[in-house]
Amino acid sequence: MNLQDLNELKTKALNEAQSATDANAVEAVRIEYLARKGLLPKVMQELKNVPVEEKPLFGKAVNELKNELTELIKKKQAEFAGSAGSAGVGFDLTQPGQWQGLGTRHPITQITDRITQIFQTLGFTVADGPDVETVWNNFDALNTPADHPSRDEQDTFYLENGDLMRCHTSPVQVRYMMENKPPVRIISPGRCYRRDTPDATHSANFHQVEGLYVDENVSLADLKGTLSYFARELMGPDVKIRFRPHFFPFTEPSVEVDFTCHVCHGKGCRVCKNSGWIEILGAGMVDPNVFGSVGYDTSEVTGFAFGMGIERITMILYGIHDIRNLYENDVRFLSQF
Ligand code: DAH
Repeated sequence: MNLQDLNELKTKALNEAQSATDANAVEAVRIEYLARKGLLPKVMQELKNVPVEEKPLFGKAVNELKNELTELIKKKQAEFAGSAGSAGVGFDLTQPGQWQGLGTRHPITQITDRITQIFQTLGFTVADGPDVETVWNNFDALNTPADHPSRDEQDTFYLENGDLMRCHTSPVQVRYMMENKPPVRIISPGRCYRRDTPDATHSANFHQVEGLYVDENVSLADLKGTLSYFARELMGPDVKIRFRPHFFPFTEPSVEVDFTCHVCHGKGCRVCKNSGWIEILGAGMVDPNVFGSVGYDTSEVTGFAFGMGIERITMILYGIHDIRNLYENDVRFLSQF
């Protein structure tokens, strides 16, 4: 065999590969030329019979033929992959794509962010506090009497060193005022802990958002204005709020705040037990004893505070009937939000 024979072989091989019209034909060309017993290995063996002066050129030409043919066959294989007559595992362009599920933010996170955003537009900033608190921050500084039931070991988790797992976010008020001079305008979302037996509306671990506003001449009217704005932003423009007298150790006067029912808009339905109202949060004017604990001068400032349960609001907004749904991490549940 000489160089000219080789060139003819090359033209023939490339033509055959080029004109193959399905995967089987491509595979046949591959076997004919490139397989272990194919034509090209045979040609390589011929190399020893080629005249010495032609050897380098011949060797080079065989290599070129092999490379070009391999490339072309690869290209043709890709062209026919997945179609009828395909030899190997192919790529079926007609198959629907595989859906890779995107994660979603947990409903508790979504509502926490929403509440935070609303108060941020009013100039509140976010303050943070630890889950493990001192008895003083959690109870004493908040004017909670020594015999108040919430201090009971049956209600609050105490640690061996005498500290506790905070049972509300209110101690963040104390921390913040101890470290900052008035005016104060903060909200503080976070985890809370109580020794509750889990059921449809209770969990030993839940979330609250605390709010605190302290300045000169802050009044109950400011509290009402702030919470009305919050209610409308959260629930829609036609929601109304009402204050009901209540008692909290850390506020005086204290109120519970109801929103008109989001389902019947105040007409009365099953969800609001025909009252037209849904209880949403606790609030009041900061008790002078609390200001005394943190060293604020009660002749200079007044303030309001409020606290709300995030689970409760989330359940109301999304119509969730069992709080445990929020903690079970069932993707079928979570992916709905
Ligand atoms: N800490 C109260 C609770 O856990 C909620 C609360 C009520 C917070 C009134 C306040 C407030 O700041 O003024 O039920």
